Amino acid sequence: MAIYASFRSIGAYAPEKILSNSDLEKMVDTTDEWIVKRTGIKERRIADEHISTSDMGAMAANIAIERSGLGKEDIDLVICATVTPDYFNMPSTACIISDKIGISNVQAFDISAACSGFVYSLTIAKAFIESGMKKNVLVIGAEKFSSIVDYTDRSTCVLFGDGAGAAVISATTDKSEAFMDIHASADGSYADFLVTPAPGSVHPANQKMLDEKLNFVQMKGNETFKLAVKTLTKDVIDILETNSIDASEIKHFIPHQANYRIIKAVGDALGMREDQVVLTVQKYGNTSAASIPMAINDIYESGRLKEGELMLLDTFGGGLTWASALIPFAGKVK
Ligand code: ACO
Repeated sequence: MAIYASFRSIGAYAPEKILSNSDLEKMVDTTDEWIVKRTGIKERRIADEHISTSDMGAMAANIAIERSGLGKEDIDLVICATVTPDYFNMPSTACIISDKIGISNVQAFDISAACSGFVYSLTIAKAFIESGMKKNVLVIGAEKFSSIVDYTDRSTCVLFGDGAGAAVISATTDKSEAFMDIHASADGSYADFLVTPAPGSVHPANQKMLDEKLNFVQMKGNETFKLAVKTLTKDVIDILETNSIDASEIKHFIPHQANYRIIKAVGDALGMREDQVVLTVQKYGNTSAASIPMAINDIYESGRLKEGELMLLDTFGGGLTWASALIPFAGKVK
């Protein structure tokens, strides 16, 4: 009998501390009006100094496991998508999260695909499950983006926030619960559009790194914006056409939450109604790999997401990377 991957549960964690646009007005030369008009962001969450990426990931993971109805002993693979790991080299944040939530002797690793990291991880979970190698995969997207943001650079500091989301992906033999399709891709020729130059083998940690602020995220915002709209639109049109699905059949369009104008442009190109499009960018900003699971959790907790409903995920980020997926929600409703 064929085995499929199914989306069993969702959980998320958002730090309590809010950084509003008016707070940012006092830090850099910007205005609430500019930020709202150009990005749709009104506020974002910032983790306290003592909270790490793995702390947020562990909190989201605990909720997702509890909602899956499984025990921790049932999880046989842990994947964490992050570009703001606890440690830049080792150990992986997935190993630390596993330990924090009480999972041991289970394969655990991080993946790096910036904002596309969560959907990239879903492709890996699907492959492990459908090959029969694993049964219940814990997928986490967690970011402490505030740890790589320069709060004197107005072109980036208004955009990002912290948070985590997690999902349990399980084996099923019921085709109606199965991931319908998932795509992921990349183009490294645009690597310089979004980069945190140091520390790394190109720029090892040293005084120069600090003096030149190479440890902070740098982005070619306008160029990234144009490519994001083009790529995201093409990617969703492709996945809908391949699966003979009309945009009107999508219950929840859950795009990466980087900029309201990008989401609106893609939604309009697809003819999506407002009630189909999930928006959290106004309250969380761009939380990179955590953005999509935090958005799924938002509609789950507000009672909008029901069992069996079709989700269209669409994401784009540093690398450049992008990914999209058609997945029915196979979890129990709240
Ligand atoms: N407040 C006021 N003015 C600002 C600010 C600010 N916070 N930031 C930039 N400006 C100014 C610029 O200096 C520029 O001024 P100038 O015309 O005098 O030179 C002007 O505003 C326009 O700047 P642009 O960069 O052209 O503005 P744009 O409309 O492109 O908006 C933004 C910038 C919001 C960054 C947008 O380009 C964007 O959202 N880009 C895509 C982000 C994205 O999708 N990233 C991928 C995912 S992230 C990841 O993977 C981690």
